[in-house]
Amino acid sequence: MREQLDGAGGLRHLITLEGLHREVLSGLLDRAEKYRRLPGQPAYEGRELAGFTVANLFFEPSTRTRASFDLAGRRLGAHVLSLDPHGSSRAKGETMLDTIYTLEAMNTDVFVIRDSEAGIPEFLIDHVAPHVSVISAGEAHLSHPTQGLLDALTIRMHKRRFAGLKLAIVGDIKHSRVARSTAHAVMTLGTSDVRLVAPEGLLPAETEFRGAHRCTGIEEGIAGADVVIMLRIQRERMAHGAALDEAAYFREFGLDAQRLKLASPDALVMHPGPMNRGVEISSEVADGPRSVIREQVNNGVAVRMAVLASIAATLTRHRKPL
Ligand code: CP
Repeated sequence: MREQLDGAGGLRHLITLEGLHREVLSGLLDRAEKYRRLPGQPAYEGRELAGFTVANLFFEPSTRTRASFDLAGRRLGAHVLSLDPHGSSRAKGETMLDTIYTLEAMNTDVFVIRDSEAGIPEFLIDHVAPHVSVISAGEAHLSHPTQGLLDALTIRMHKRRFAGLKLAIVGDIKHSRVARSTAHAVMTLGTSDVRLVAPEGLLPAETEFRGAHRCTGIEEGIAGADVVIMLRIQRERMAHGAALDEAAYFREFGLDAQRLKLASPDALVMHPGPMNRGVEISSEVADGPRSVIREQVNNGVAVRMAVLASIAATLTRHRKPL
């Protein structure tokens, strides 16, 4: 795989947070803070991506990631193309690479790609032209780097530190690319107490999440936690869509107001979305005073602006002259 950073340390591609040092992640979060605007404030409008074309290729469903990459590109002055996968020629048998080469021929500079198949973003960065970048918007169960960054930004804005935090990730960790990227982000940034809380069958392999603690009881897992991240059951990644007794799951692993009392009194409640209310989280908690779920969405736009702007700055150095 080609490097994600160029020789000068500039961000060239982003398909995983693995291998990116703390300084790179902190730099992206600093840049995102500059772009962040609260709902009701005028959105940041800039020209960092003027003259660049960004193609969003989402071959898996998405609301938050797709909308925020679209807005991030437009707010920085890019031409943004969001291809409808069902209306594209891939539905007629065109290969992924032929789709990429077709859009490259139309001067696309950045591909933002989500796909259920592992390895697609890496395959693309090995095949795109030298002046083109690839960003993963979610790769199978493996990686969701911009979600990891936006979760880290949300935590940093509230807690102002990563060292010494107790962070619990609760739910279907085995199938979660968010859990992998967010755990990696916070551990790189200095959090050592990361707890993976799930029924035995939804915990990841022992070889994954090095340094995290594994726990099969939610009460023990969230005790004293400063941050509780709830995950949905990802049935689309289970063989034959496993049957689930939702009421039983909520009784055993759902976060309600009573259970939340076990966490730190100022614990943040996070969820990457989409939420399944009444399955992994109660509405009382999701909409309650400790929930920062909508802030995560707000930070998602800022983080994607920071990633796009960083890549555009790098690409500018690699562009062919007129
Ligand atoms: N968190 C997340 O990836 O949400 P979407 O699937 O809606 O993009």
